[in-house]
Amino acid sequence: MNRRLTAPVGITATGQCFPPRVVTNDDLSKIMETNDEWIRTRTGIGERRWAEPGTGASKLGAPALQMALDNRGMKATELDAIIVATVTPDTLFPATACRIQEMVGATNAFGFDLSAACSGFLYALTSAASLVAAGGVQRVAVVGVDIMSTVIDLEDRTTSVLFGDGAGAVIVERVEEGLGILDFEHRIDGSGGCFLHMPAGGSASPATAETVAARDHYIHQSGSEVFKKAVREMADNSRMLMDRNGFAPEELKLFVPHQANIRIMDAAAKRLELDPSRMMVNIDKFGNTTAATIPTALHQAFEQGRMAKGDLVALAAFGAGFTWGSTLLRWAY
Ligand code: UT7
Repeated sequence: MNRRLTAPVGITATGQCFPPRVVTNDDLSKIMETNDEWIRTRTGIGERRWAEPGTGASKLGAPALQMALDNRGMKATELDAIIVATVTPDTLFPATACRIQEMVGATNAFGFDLSAACSGFLYALTSAASLVAAGGVQRVAVVGVDIMSTVIDLEDRTTSVLFGDGAGAVIVERVEEGLGILDFEHRIDGSGGCFLHMPAGGSASPATAETVAARDHYIHQSGSEVFKKAVREMADNSRMLMDRNGFAPEELKLFVPHQANIRIMDAAAKRLELDPSRMMVNIDKFGNTTAATIPTALHQAFEQGRMAKGDLVALAAFGAGFTWGSTLLRWAY
């Protein structure tokens, strides 16, 4: 079944924001038992950005959204809604969407946070586009932001070297017929929850001295289980989406996967029978920024002239939950 929207809706502008502090693999080798060679060959990461302590997600999310608004030539007061995808909100409540709304001055918007880890941006994009297609709102901002440096355990070298901080934002509106989001397929599978999670800090295990001592407020990951499932679901889900819309892999101008590990991305591209030159890669400079990987990759791809109006683009994500999804679109501007 095609999940076509009832009206043509797409992305009409992008923006991004990264903290200035660059953390190289050599920097990490000074604080844990690791080295540049292992990190590069096993993950494709050369460096990442880490925010200064005390930087909330809104501090990166608001400038990213402001850049997208400026690129669109739109005032914040014209926004009807703001959806923020994040697993590292400023606070559990109020929502980071409220903070970002205040910071950019979007005085006519409602908004909310959406928690779907690395798939968060795709789910938020689909939610925004569905709202616009339904006709209740016209202009929605989607922000994907994570401050992963606040939830990594520096005593766990297998996980802590992977993540970085960043924010990407897009504006979602009605577009010309034939452009914008063509189709999507998203899934969740709670049986995978134990392989990638933060055990404490929610209602099931509120923060106590014991949970802090047990390091349960950090990310816990079983890397190889996540790796195998990520390759299969990102590739097969994207392939199914292309097949049911009658597109061959060579018709794709750009494949923009979640940036978790270059080996996952390469394996997914191979399974999709896609020439690697048509895959967007920025993991070498930014690492895994969770909800921010796809919107920042889209922003950079557009700035680099790697896609133009009418080009076929596929987005794919996989993350904690498990959550995964793919979205097929024609670039709208
Ligand atoms: O975005 C959310 C979704 N997350 C993902 O998609 C991540 C998926 N998983 C992965 O990307 C990979 O599984 C990892 C990068 C996390 C790990 O790579 P791996 O090839 O599965 O390595 P491994 O965990 O099997 O470890 C291999 C070896 C071990 O040493 P021994 O036991 O073979 O002696 C580790 O102790 O590499 C060692 N190792 C390290 N060595 C140097 C693990 N981390 C490091 C490190 N530096 N940072």
